[in-house]
Amino acid sequence: MMNKLVCLLLAVFSFTSAAQPPRKAAIASAHFLATEAGHEILAKGGNAFDAAVAVSAVLSVVEPQSSGLGGGGFYLLHRASDGKQVMLDAREEAPQAAHRDMYLDTNGQVVRDWLLNGPKAAGIPGLPAGLVHLNRHYGRLSLAEDLAPAIRIAEQGFPAYPRYVEAIKRKIDVIRRYPASQKAFLINGRVPKVGDIIRRPDLAKTLKAIARKGRAGFYQGPVARKLVKASRKHGGIWTREDLKKYQVKERAPIITTYGGKTLVTAPPPSSGGIALATMLNILSAWDLKKMAKTDPAKRVHLTVEAMRRAYRDRSVYLGDPDFVDIPVKRLIHPYYADGLRASIRDDKAMPSNLLPGLKHAPQGNHTTHFSIIDKEGNLVSATLTVNTSLASGFVAAGTGVLFNNEMDDFSAKPGQPNAYGLIGGEANAIAPGKRPLSSMTPTFVMGPDDVAVLGTPGGSRIITMVLLGILDFYDGHGPASWVSLPRYHHQYLPDAIYLEPNALNTDIVKQLEQRGHRVVRMSHPWGFMNATWWDKHSGQTKAASDPRWTTGKGEVK
Ligand code: DON
Repeated sequence: MMNKLVCLLLAVFSFTSAAQPPRKAAIASAHFLATEAGHEILAKGGNAFDAAVAVSAVLSVVEPQSSGLGGGGFYLLHRASDGKQVMLDAREEAPQAAHRDMYLDTNGQVVRDWLLNGPKAAGIPGLPAGLVHLNRHYGRLSLAEDLAPAIRIAEQGFPAYPRYVEAIKRKIDVIRRYPASQKAFLINGRVPKVGDIIRRPDLAKTLKAIARKGRAGFYQGPVARKLVKASRKHGGIWTREDLKKYQVKERAPIITTYGGKTLVTAPPPSSGGIALATMLNILSAWDLKKMAKTDPAKRVHLTVEAMRRAYRDRSVYLGDPDFVDIPVKRLIHPYYADGLRASIRDDKAMPSNLLPGLKHAPQGNHTTHFSIIDKEGNLVSATLTVNTSLASGFVAAGTGVLFNNEMDDFSAKPGQPNAYGLIGGEANAIAPGKRPLSSMTPTFVMGPDDVAVLGTPGGSRIITMVLLGILDFYDGHGPASWVSLPRYHHQYLPDAIYLEPNALNTDIVKQLEQRGHRVVRMSHPWGFMNATWWDKHSGQTKAASDPRWTTGKGEVK
């Protein structure tokens, strides 16, 4: 009798708790053509992973200021059929001829131009290998099918839009140095106007070579020869061997729990997952949801103190895990967070220089993030980059490929800040074949009731944006709120809280200053968060794109 009752209860329980598959797929990306391409591929019978290939490839055409074949990225995947969770590390890699002092002049000073502009700034690209790997191991359609929308758009053209035009204007001096860059980004030598149709025939040819030959279409053969020739002609150091040996790496995600949900997020060479785990472990001691109502200034203060400590660890410990030993277990352990929390006072900011660590010490949205949920419950959270806006500004003749400037994510000299004001030391020093430390933090938050897929561009601020988005999810809000929420940021050094315009009211700012925080109000917002959400009870899905940049033309669907 008792057994029957237990069985009955179990049956009722498992019936009510069974997840409803998503009723429709949800995609949020930085451009409506990319989101449309993702849905086109799903309609053809592809899964979320095929859609991710299509979305990435279209973004490489229509949003070259943010990501592309000459760049890299991280794909966080969840496969519904067997629950496999993995991060594809398609991060750029330092060429074999790279060495630790390669960006120092004869006086030992960092030459920012070498790190940011031209082919010397570029690591060996990972994105093409990432697309091929994603299609081959996780997709259902052929690579040619997944790449077809991007090839079509590169050939037929897309209308120039304000963010694209602005990116070209900002990089014009570098573009003018290189004929192939002018061909790719200018029209008869002038900056395009909004609405001009942009065609990228050379890039279409490179995409076709990948569609036909897979990896070899990019990393070997005519495309590889052109990339290396162009690099060396203009002062770069790439070799054919560097390209041939590039490999995507499958990495186990960082997994941590917070408030009854599981976070699945980016492991090294991203610093994001470890920093998120540290921050959430520190914050787990308080009821932040309640505090948002009772003492919002204290909530910001405690969150900032968690940020400060996690970013200190970033600068001291983190780098490419294939080159440095990272004490991951310790850094993400709740006991370690207990130790960090013990030095946090309610009433006072702790100056960063009192934390043991390095003695030395931001910007926009020139990277791209998209989030996908398909009807089978497969999830993709992908952050892709060429680093700063329009990257190195260098296009290799005959390929349409814009070289990244990801080498700036290394620590070119201990204690010297990079483009995001981040400092680093030994763990992130340049070495041949090493991958530069990243802040990109593609993330899933998986709870019993619902699932969040989120991430954003924004350099060093990525990690704190993802944290604030996650905390907002725990406050009970949906994706439209996570992406639009006002942002604040602290990264250990410089020792200040950075605020978006109107992020915090004057009363809260005053209370933070009374605790000893330096508060810097920035004149412009940051980030371009794209998120999706799935309610497991109803099967409802939602997609949301950052209102700071959304045009309303269909970035979400
Ligand atoms: O991997 C990183 O952390 C950087 N290269 C990301 C750059 C970025 O988000 C640019 N947007 N402002």
